[in-house]
Amino acid sequence: MNVITVPTRPVEGQRPGTSGLRKKVAVFSQPGYVENFVQSVFDSLEGYAGETLVVGGDGRYFNTQAIQVILRMAAANGFGRVIVGQDGILSTPAASCVIRKHGAFGGLILSASHNPGGPDGDFGIKYNIGNGGPAPEKITEAIYARSREINAYRTIEAPDVDLSRPGTTELGSLRVAVVDPVADYAELMQQLFDFDAIRALFASGFRMRFDAMHAVTGPYAKQIIEGMLGAPAGTAINAVPLPDFGQGHPDPNPVYAKELMDEMYGPQGPDFGAASDGDGDRNMVVGRRFVVTPSDSLAVLAANAELVPGYSRGISGIARSMPTSRAADRVAEALGVACYETPTGWKFFGNLLDAGKATLCGEESYGTGSDHVREKDGLWAVLFWLNLLAVRKESVEDILRGHWRRFGRHYYSRHDYDGIDTQSADGLMAHLRGSLAGLPGTRVAGLAVDSADDFSYTDPVDGSVSSRQGVRIGFVGGSRVVFRLSGTGTEGATLRVYLERYEPDPDRHGLDPQAALADLIAAADALAEIKSRTGRQAPDVIT
Ligand code: G1P
Ligand code: ZN
Repeated sequence: MNVITVPTRPVEGQRPGTSGLRKKVAVFSQPGYVENFVQSVFDSLEGYAGETLVVGGDGRYFNTQAIQVILRMAAANGFGRVIVGQDGILSTPAASCVIRKHGAFGGLILSASHNPGGPDGDFGIKYNIGNGGPAPEKITEAIYARSREINAYRTIEAPDVDLSRPGTTELGSLRVAVVDPVADYAELMQQLFDFDAIRALFASGFRMRFDAMHAVTGPYAKQIIEGMLGAPAGTAINAVPLPDFGQGHPDPNPVYAKELMDEMYGPQGPDFGAASDGDGDRNMVVGRRFVVTPSDSLAVLAANAELVPGYSRGISGIARSMPTSRAADRVAEALGVACYETPTGWKFFGNLLDAGKATLCGEESYGTGSDHVREKDGLWAVLFWLNLLAVRKESVEDILRGHWRRFGRHYYSRHDYDGIDTQSADGLMAHLRGSLAGLPGTRVAGLAVDSADDFSYTDPVDGSVSSRQGVRIGFVGGSRVVFRLSGTGTEGATLRVYLERYEPDPDRHGLDPQAALADLIAAADALAEIKSRTGRQAPDVIT
């Protein structure tokens, strides 16, 4: 094997954020760009000689080009084996599953999640460690530091590997195993859920629509929901991954999954609807004419976990990101288990899952998961819901209404202001932070402020501290507004405003969420001066 060392220079902008490196395709296509990042990753790791690396992505534009570069570099850098999904496909949760199942050293996942794809869209690479989860900060910081001083990368001269057929090829001393991207994942799902009960549900005429949004979950939904579970053909729509996701925005929320929403709210809509994002880690679940917020979904899954084989022995705890509603906290209390509040980002759940402190985790941003892998898992959440529906034999709406009667309802909404000027966004957050001390005891837009802080988290497992994770304003009666800036956007800044109101009275469980939150929306503007500082009269996306 002829390893060549290619001189290179650090490339601007290789900071791996919370979700790895995410940039426009044009940036990734610069000569040496992928190589620099991948070499920086390898240089930051120790002890991988002869070990296994898992590689796959969400099928977006540039996916297979990047994979070929990675295969040659993995060979040159001394990995023993690469497991790669057929056609370069692996959803993020499936990659996590494959890493764990095959005892891999780690994995490179190629995705920019829900960001649009295509030649003008985004691309991304992230490194996951041997537990199947995103690399911790210690490693991403090392990768970043390395990317700023790198002066050479190692590769070999070799033709592209045929990714279109399962099988094994030798690339120098590297064994490249092209595998069915669904098989290992499907096997894990079968261990967790009652496939017989779900099959019987479909056989009884239950109708479902799963929108893969032209992204990675198409093959998974076809094989598992239509194939193994016997749902009628056509249950999964937009199920062929396209390099540009059909020019769509593969983010499963009521705004972007409009085709699905129209059907669910139309005449004779299906009983159950679901969608997943670009790389398959997010999920949205919908009933007939009924949206389930992700925060409520987490709470319902936790409250019903014992009905599902994989969780029938009970859950050890729940973890939710700070801006996620506190609906799950009430369930944890009723179950007598802990509920952890973590900063935004799935990586903060890793230690809690590894330590067995939490079984279920969730974020308001359509992310739900458990200790079965170390990523959030869209299809897993959908199968969990299907299992509940099969056992409880009630509609999605009835399950939610029953849940609210028992625990009270947390009205919830997130307002996003996209692509705002970075300076205005920083100014707004600085203004908020500066006002915190004086807020408790005052009234804002008629609401009495109870508490105000900037969220700081101490990891209960390793003691690490993450500060400045978002401004929280609590009101008397339990309502809450949270402000933070997105860490995943690629253009300007995105302000996220999270609104939550707790309503114990069942007679008031039928309000429209935006109307129920109107006072809080006004208070949020008064507190952060959103309109005047951003020049925006209304949010770009409301979920
Ligand atoms: C967003 C979500 C966050 C999620 C992340 C990755 O991050 O809000 O919950 O973990 O995407 O999917 P943000 O852009 O808010 O930093
Ligand atoms: Zn995603």
